Amino acid sequence: MRVLVTGAKGQLGTDLQQQLSEGGCSLGQVHLRVRGAKVVGIDLEELDLTDKYAVKEYLRSGSFDVVFNCAAYTNVDGCESHREDAYRVNAMAPLFLAEACEKTETQLVHVSTDYVFPGTEETPRTEFDLPSPVSVYGKTKYAGEMFVRENCSRYFIVRTAWLYGCGKNFVKTILRVAKEKGKVTVVNDQFGNPTSSVDLAYHLLKIADGAPYGLYHATNNGVCSWYDFAKEFVALAGVDAEVLPCSSDEYPTPTKRPAYSALDNLALRATVGDEFRSWQEAIREYIDLLKKEGTI
Ligand SMILES: NC(=O)c1ccc[n+]([C@@H]2O[C@H](COP(=O)([O-])OP(=O)(O)OC[C@H]3O[C@@H](n4cnc5c(N)ncnc54)[C@H](OP(=O)(O)O)[C@@H]3O)[C@@H](O)[C@H]2O)c1
Repeated sequence: MRVLVTGAKGQLGTDLQQQLSEGGCSLGQVHLRVRGAKVVGIDLEELDLTDKYAVKEYLRSGSFDVVFNCAAYTNVDGCESHREDAYRVNAMAPLFLAEACEKTETQLVHVSTDYVFPGTEETPRTEFDLPSPVSVYGKTKYAGEMFVRENCSRYFIVRTAWLYGCGKNFVKTILRVAKEKGKVTVVNDQFGNPTSSVDLAYHLLKIADGAPYGLYHATNNGVCSWYDFAKEFVALAGVDAEVLPCSSDEYPTPTKRPAYSALDNLALRATVGDEFRSWQEAIREYIDLLKKEGTI
């Protein structure tokens, strides 16, 4: 079996490749069908996914069985000021991958976001709920989902949320500010599911191993605000700093973010099973890892 991972240098792409090469993670072993797969990881330097003909040729000559598309324009505020770039990466690139996968009879696992929802309801959204994104990021990611669905018959679309792993992310930024300033202010009126890229990678492999084609939500269990999340990991990291709550109005950003974007992993539970840990367990493991690496 040959597996292609795009966005290979990103948070999720890194963990996917690691689990494929190491045979698993703390949650368990890599699933049967993808076990022992030959893995090719690529990022922007190797292939610009917005180049239709390059994508077509790469997939044609690569003879892959499964493509995991972890590449995206993930800078949510940057999307507002670079709409066209965001559309190219988050919508057109998935279209080109979907067309190429259809032609080569390859399965496509495409990753999307909780930001496809407006965040106006206060219960976790299931796969049956209709998206209505409010940000450019959410709109372009939703366009990408539709292109995948309409152009590839062997597709899995997996929506996740509030991801943290290698590289830059919310957890590392807050810890740095907390350490430097002794206090940090975090919004307390946006709710979601913090999700470990380790746990997500494990579930993507599980989905590719034998779930029915279709749409899945995949996040760690439990809902909290950014403030609750920050308070938990600052304490776990042993940083002596005050974590203070504020409202979104007090911390304006270029992007309107959903107030409540939590997801319910309904389809996952009903098919291959939901082995996600609580967000508290997952962040504990991540903080332990950062300590071991000497990052904090
Ligand atoms: N991060 C989150 O909180 C979050 C939340 C919900 C859903 N998601 C989704 O989860 C997936 C993985 O996210 P992540 O946080 O792992 O992303 P990430 O760390 O930002 O990695 C994305 C990778 O894609 C690459 N890329 C960008 N444009 C490309 C292009 N034209 N061609 C090829 N590669 C390109 C990026 O390269 P450069 O760095 O050089 O641009 C980067 O290495 C994405 O689909 C994202 O939308 C993320």
